[in-house]
Amino acid sequence: MSEKFVSENLCVNEKGHLTVGDVDTVELAEQYGTPLYVMDENVIRNNLRRFHESMQKYYNGRGLVCYASKAFSCLEMCRIVKDEGDGLDVVSIGEIYTALKAGFPMERVVFHGNNKSAEELEFAVESKVGNIIVDNISELNKLEKICAEKGVVQSIMLRIKPGIDAHTHSFIRTGQIDSKFGFALETGEALEAVEESIKCGNINLSGLHCHIGSQIFDIEPFEEAGRVMLKFIAEIKSKFSYEIKILNLGGGFGIKYLNSHNPEPFEVYIQRVSAVVSEECEKLNISQPEIYIEPGRSIAAPAGITLYTVGARKEIPDIRTYISIDGSMADSPRYILYQSEYEAIVANKADEERSERVTIAGKCCESGDLIGENMPLQHAESGDIIAVCATGAYNYSMSSNYNRLQKPAVVFVKDGKSRVVVKRETLDDIIRNDV
Ligand code: LLP
Repeated sequence: MSEKFVSENLCVNEKGHLTVGDVDTVELAEQYGTPLYVMDENVIRNNLRRFHESMQKYYNGRGLVCYASKAFSCLEMCRIVKDEGDGLDVVSIGEIYTALKAGFPMERVVFHGNNKSAEELEFAVESKVGNIIVDNISELNKLEKICAEKGVVQSIMLRIKPGIDAHTHSFIRTGQIDSKFGFALETGEALEAVEESIKCGNINLSGLHCHIGSQIFDIEPFEEAGRVMLKFIAEIKSKFSYEIKILNLGGGFGIKYLNSHNPEPFEVYIQRVSAVVSEECEKLNISQPEIYIEPGRSIAAPAGITLYTVGARKEIPDIRTYISIDGSMADSPRYILYQSEYEAIVANKADEERSERVTIAGKCCESGDLIGENMPLQHAESGDIIAVCATGAYNYSMSSNYNRLQKPAVVFVKDGKSRVVVKRETLDDIIRNDV
């Protein structure tokens, strides 16, 4: 019996094997080894296009989709985003460097972070990053000094906390006043930052930014954030006769990790938020800003699966069955961090029913190192291949070398073909910086 999988790009072939991008996942495991991250290039491109085209349709194309590269970054990912004509959200010198080395057009880059170092700011200015998203006053002062010394004018946006409490995991919620990110509206801090920025001779205040959190299913908090930000833009216009040209609404759109999850299609989000922006601008008598958005998870997560080989099976009567895999929290850290739930499939038995509930355990020396508990799964035995679905975001990018484990390779698949885009780490990679 073939089942409906959480990621629409997954199918079952005549051998009963799971396929991704028309490639047999069992063959991928044989060819490249496990653990293995696999990304479907068509899904990445299609997701980017859906945002991009909705922006064309509902906001006359007056916007930029800046893929949040923290979700998944490597040279090839930056090349794809470049190729699709989109922008990039980066959050460290390492992400800037990756974009530069991929030949990314730096004017389409926005640079985030709540504690950027002087080195990072200088590097960003020298790299001609389009906009630096300034988080706090000391950063503004540091940046003004760097730009004055270099004799350049740098465009910035200010990161604002719009005071919206999105209902998501507390670790990934960012829009409320008690957050380490950005300037608060309620306290007058944001308005002061605007005034300061306008006064800076080597800074061009081009926009305002907000990001209310991640894995958010409701559209209302995004609409509300838009309203709050536009009201602030109107206040800036009346107080300082200054026009804010860009409104960056961040990322955070929820995706389907389980069949019970029902996110709105991206198109609906863009349509509704665009409508709010148009209406509010008219009401407030301000010109419509350009809209930037920063989707990360929604672009990368649905494109990815992670493949593992099953080792031991341990049945503890009346308690649970552990299925141990050759990966761990080092390549899949989201369960131990956020108790995130995933769908798993025995890739070589993908046409069979999920007949049991198991705990999938990693190989790290740590009891909490699990991929999930109480997961419905086909009967899994040693040597089987397990695919965990929708792992394309915040897995490879948050992977570590805990227990001195080597990071897995990343393979892209497209139209029946596969290629390595990040090589598997070697044992020598593990000791490369040891002296
Ligand atoms: N823009 C800003 C300023 C952000 O801080 C983030 C994510 C994004 C955009 C992209 O958000 P997305 O569309 O991916 O939800 N490690 C956590 C997620 C942390 C999100 C951090 N910021 C996880 O695995 O769930």
